[in-house]
Amino acid sequence: MSQEISRRRALGLALAGAGSLAVGLTGLGARGWPPFGAAESSTAGDAATGTGTGTGAGAGGWAEPTVLTSTEGVLDVELRAAATRVPVGGQAATMLTYNGTVPGPTLRLHPGDQLRVHLVNDLDEATNLHTHGLFVSASGNSDNPFLRIGAGESFDYRIDLPDDHPRGVFWYHPHHHGLVADQLFAGLYGAIVVDDDESAPAHIVMVADTTISQGRVATVSMPERMQGRTGQTVLTNGLVAPELAVPSGSTQRLWVVNACTSRYLDLGLDGQPLQVAGLDSGGYPTPVPMDRLLLAPGNRADLEVEVPAARTSLVAHAYDRGTAGMGMMGRMSSDGSDATVLTLVPAGTDPSPGAEVTRVPPRDLRDVGVDGTRTLTFTMGMGQGMGRGMGMSFLIDGEAFDPDRVDQQVRIGTVEEWTLRNTTMMDHPFHLHVWPMQVIGTSPASSDAPDVRDVVDVPAGREVVVRIAFERYPGSTVYHCHVLDHEDLGMMGTIRAS
Ligand code: C2O
Ligand code: CU
Ligand code: CU
Repeated sequence: MSQEISRRRALGLALAGAGSLAVGLTGLGARGWPPFGAAESSTAGDAATGTGTGTGAGAGGWAEPTVLTSTEGVLDVELRAAATRVPVGGQAATMLTYNGTVPGPTLRLHPGDQLRVHLVNDLDEATNLHTHGLFVSASGNSDNPFLRIGAGESFDYRIDLPDDHPRGVFWYHPHHHGLVADQLFAGLYGAIVVDDDESAPAHIVMVADTTISQGRVATVSMPERMQGRTGQTVLTNGLVAPELAVPSGSTQRLWVVNACTSRYLDLGLDGQPLQVAGLDSGGYPTPVPMDRLLLAPGNRADLEVEVPAARTSLVAHAYDRGTAGMGMMGRMSSDGSDATVLTLVPAGTDPSPGAEVTRVPPRDLRDVGVDGTRTLTFTMGMGQGMGRGMGMSFLIDGEAFDPDRVDQQVRIGTVEEWTLRNTTMMDHPFHLHVWPMQVIGTSPASSDAPDVRDVVDVPAGREVVVRIAFERYPGSTVYHCHVLDHEDLGMMGTIRAS
């Protein structure tokens, strides 16, 4: 039973702030703003030729990806995946892009819309498309992770959002088993916004890491895959440590996406707590203050930041997510150094009135009867490394991914309680497609709101209990570790709902 909650917030991102945004920009960066303004809204016809600005200037600038907005219930876009020469941190490098930019365009939808994507694969290997976090069908030409779009081929996706789809920020990325980590690390990712309230715009903050070496994306070793690769460069909207000029005293909404292949983002803001208005598709009735917020790969956060009079940075702090623990290779470093995600630079003041933000809290499964329980166990061990030579195997319930095997059979209309058990020395962020998970037994600090996520971190040697309402979408899909190297190495299973 969801009860609609409205709040008045002093959101100063009103258009009055637009002029000040030029501060620190190099010209290239200006086109991506405002995120939902008319200038960047694109209808179907423009989609194929939309020019993004995500990959641009070095430190100092700010840019957001081009926004493609649905009209009359439909967003019809072409996404072309191709190797492209783009500027990264002041140098040119060949990355993989959607429509020529890193990140790809932001797809902006309303609940009830149909998303049509003509995916063109100009890569020299297979790919496909996953709409991470969307509560939509995983069958046919909807959000189907089993599809394979070969090199040189194209495919038409049709993804229908239900009228009651949660508002929030989601994202898209390739999901072809065995190639997901490489393709994401090389630049294939973009944001999806589902909202029906244009009055409270938010900045898209897509965080991803990569390593550029001699003008190309570095290849990684087997030990790095086993650890879960960490890129040397953290990119925010394709930029290194960008600066966002905003009026002091205003409240800015930041929609942060952790699009890193493996890196955890242990976020903090210097000088003030984070105000967390939502995580993944779940909104809190009122923002929850947190000193630190851990976003595992795949997680998103809806943050509200009151801009102080001095510069302030959103920092991803060094984080130890454990080790693949092979004695012969020694202890491998984890996400070992702080990175600046962005710096807010005060530029004038803005007394403009705030806009109304509506968040619909998700259904709370704590008080609901459970129809079934199961335990999923993550293990790692030495063995034949999935066709890549001797290495470590990454398994769930003793099995590596097999698309032809059904690992979990569930019934539509039931609520289940799953215990996620991690017997390894590394953290594994567990992701289930289609159905959100409510973490049981923990609530965010100072809030009793349900903690609903589509990626749930399961720390080394620990267990986490979640509840899942299997509603609405019969068919088969997957769950997996969102350290995407682990997913590619086999830590993925299939689920069939009927
Ligand atoms: Cu974001 Cu199955 O993935
Ligand atoms: Cu997903
Ligand atoms: Cu993992």
